[in-house]
Amino acid sequence: MYMRKRIFSGAQPTGQLHIGNYLGAIKNWVELQDDYECFYCIVNMHAITLPQDPKTLRQKTLDLARIYLAAGVDPERSTIFIQSDVSAHAELAWVLSCQARMGELERMTQFKDKGKGNAERAGVGLFTYPILMASDILLYQTDLVPVGKDQKQHLELTRDLAERFNRDFGETFVIPEPFIPKVGASIASLADPAKKMSKSDENANGAIFLLDDADTIAKKIKRAVTDSGTEIKFDETRPAINNLLTIYQLMTGKTQAECEANFEGKGYGALKGELADAVIEFLRPFQERVKQYDDAALGAILEKGAEAAREIASATLDGVYKKMGIS
Ligand code: TYM
Repeated sequence: MYMRKRIFSGAQPTGQLHIGNYLGAIKNWVELQDDYECFYCIVNMHAITLPQDPKTLRQKTLDLARIYLAAGVDPERSTIFIQSDVSAHAELAWVLSCQARMGELERMTQFKDKGKGNAERAGVGLFTYPILMASDILLYQTDLVPVGKDQKQHLELTRDLAERFNRDFGETFVIPEPFIPKVGASIASLADPAKKMSKSDENANGAIFLLDDADTIAKKIKRAVTDSGTEIKFDETRPAINNLLTIYQLMTGKTQAECEANFEGKGYGALKGELADAVIEFLRPFQERVKQYDDAALGAILEKGAEAAREIASATLDGVYKKMGIS
């Protein structure tokens, strides 16, 4: 029998999802559904590594499920579930935290960013967060993990932990590969192209959120910083224009050459105007679809997803416990 290879990925239900999350990750989740058996998780246990308001977190968890669905994740073909519904994630995280080394976690750059360089006051969960992410991935014997570039280091740690466990206790985990797209893996902030577009951007104009209305999108793009020079061309040395053109390319499905031809002899004003139209047109039907799922329909999808996920996750965890002599 032909077995499809397996995919696992997820996003945190914190802040608001932006076009970077979509173009760097979710767009690929949707495209890969045809060829892989996919598990897409709402990682609410990762969200609590920073303080969250309980009511808001519950709401955002469901809203994120709606976003997955509206983006085109198909619950008939892919498993969509909430991380806390499958307790094996937390259990395997404990086992792996007994294998991981302080030194390898200390090298994780995201901890340094999110902990704001103050390790004394940062939560322990924020420090061990990449271990929970490794558990997510390894529980499903995942072959491929579609993510943006900022998750590359976490994927390397996941592979190291899996290889170490396999070496010490015998073949247990599939070693996962990252899937990082050639274009769109790191969408930059519109306000500061040296930074990535982020859910928690202090500058509200830096990110275009998936649920922004047309006026807001147009305003943010109009205010986007640009570089010196006037030509509208892909050019790594002009990160602001490069970023705007990359978003345009991905939103319209044009090739790089077609994008450049489209803007030949035109200026920044034209780029910003056409980009705003493309983003607004792209998000309009998406925003309509987000409203389609009522709580009951959503609850049924997530319950079915959790059941399917539990079955696979608990089989992996059982194997791990047996190998370690704790069951
Ligand atoms: P999160 O919630 O920060 O982001 C979700 C996905 O969006 C990608 N992304 C970007 N891609 C391009 N440009 C950007 N500016 C940009 N910002 C974010 C992220 O790379 C990610 O793919 N730790 C993960 C969630 C997670 C996970 C997992 C992912 C937990 N367990 C297991 C894969 C597998 C995170 O915080 O993603």
